[in-house]
Amino acid sequence: MRLAILGGGGFRVPLVYGALLGDRDEGRVTRVTLHDVDGSRLRAVATVLAEQAAGVPDAPVVEATTDLDEALRGADFVFSAIRVGGLEGRAADERVALAEGVLGQETVGAGGIAYGLRTVPVATDIARRVAALAPDAWVINFTNPAGLVTEAMSRVLGDRVVGICDSPVGLGRRVARALGADPARVWMDYVGLNHLGWLRGVRVRGRDELPRLLADREALGSLEEGRLFGADWLRSLGAIPNEYLHYYYFNRETVRAYRRAERTRGAFLRDQQAGFYAEPSLRRWRSALAEREATYMAGSREASGAGERAGTDLESGGYEKVALALMRAVARDERTTLILNVRNGTALSVLDADAVIEVPCLVDASGAHPYAVDPLPGHATGLVTAVKAVEREVMTAAESGSRAAAVRAFALHPLVDSVTVARRLLDGYTAVHPGLAHLNRK
Ligand code: G6P
Ligand code: MN
Repeated sequence: MRLAILGGGGFRVPLVYGALLGDRDEGRVTRVTLHDVDGSRLRAVATVLAEQAAGVPDAPVVEATTDLDEALRGADFVFSAIRVGGLEGRAADERVALAEGVLGQETVGAGGIAYGLRTVPVATDIARRVAALAPDAWVINFTNPAGLVTEAMSRVLGDRVVGICDSPVGLGRRVARALGADPARVWMDYVGLNHLGWLRGVRVRGRDELPRLLADREALGSLEEGRLFGADWLRSLGAIPNEYLHYYYFNRETVRAYRRAERTRGAFLRDQQAGFYAEPSLRRWRSALAEREATYMAGSREASGAGERAGTDLESGGYEKVALALMRAVARDERTTLILNVRNGTALSVLDADAVIEVPCLVDASGAHPYAVDPLPGHATGLVTAVKAVEREVMTAAESGSRAAAVRAFALHPLVDSVTVARRLLDGYTAVHPGLAHLNRK
């Protein structure tokens, strides 16, 4: 089995390779081709992978290339984990929005829109190259904003692209732990868009245990989401929102905390990773990863007074485990249930069939199929349909170069409160991102 990793010079690639090293079963990945537009980042990551593989018998062979077509030819699976504009671009996405007093976040609000505008054209080109060179390959998209990017790629690849995120898995693991249940044996009634979903029920041996958790102040206090949102708000909702909903429910506080911070998350990671890439080694990678995990969502935790992250939450979210589980289920026809980003079909009736949503899926050799789910309550439906409309404007703008569509994308987002601000955001982003300059013309 051959796996191509696009964005192969990325910081999280050793997590994926580590998961592959742990897979000893028949039909496992034996060859990994790393692709990146930056040869020096590829070399840095290859150094770490070589250290990881030392002493592991039959470790997957690693090759690296800056030629996309070469990476794709003959691939059975393609992981797409690129970051268009790099962390410098992420920092600019954050900065421009915060200067306008609105949220600048990697995937949420104005920052996510700017990132989407930059990424959709590149992801669509990749999808076209996959369709031409590896039409039978499965594409697992990690590239953020993951729901939007997966939908853009699905316009070319149909159901051959599946988007993944570690946040629903992390939520499931924390909730199961708080209930004293085995995370592998709970049914998570979770649905929404990527980074915009709600856990409405947790069935353990057929019984919904979420009401018990919501009633237990102490258990809620031990849960990251309990500390972020507060027990009262979780009870009012009757559900546990994805941690990214903190940016919606506590927007002012978060924007204030983020504006006060000395450096944005993107700028912090850019500086931190510059050190690693200058002198790459497995030891330095591990310590940078640990620091990254410990400071995850620090701004939101500061805004809510949530304090430090719990030690048990410091392990990485586990997106590489989701990716491996998905790949195994497809390659070996081993039926499994995973929360994934796929085309809606008829799962959420307020959205059309082609809208990519995040939903529990049954996965086997024929791909990922969303389970039927209960409808979302009105307030959640409102957010989901508003944000999906924004994503569609991003895709239209990316495809047509229309400034009007790009302004609509910013202006219609629930976290941008003025059309004037939307126009200024677009001007700000086109000024700092050369790749967006065309949006100022039409
Ligand atoms: C989680 C999300 C990812 C996101 C990441 C950001 O893992 O699921 O989609 O990219 O957090 O974390 P970072 O350490 O880069 O701020
Ligand atoms: Mn994610």
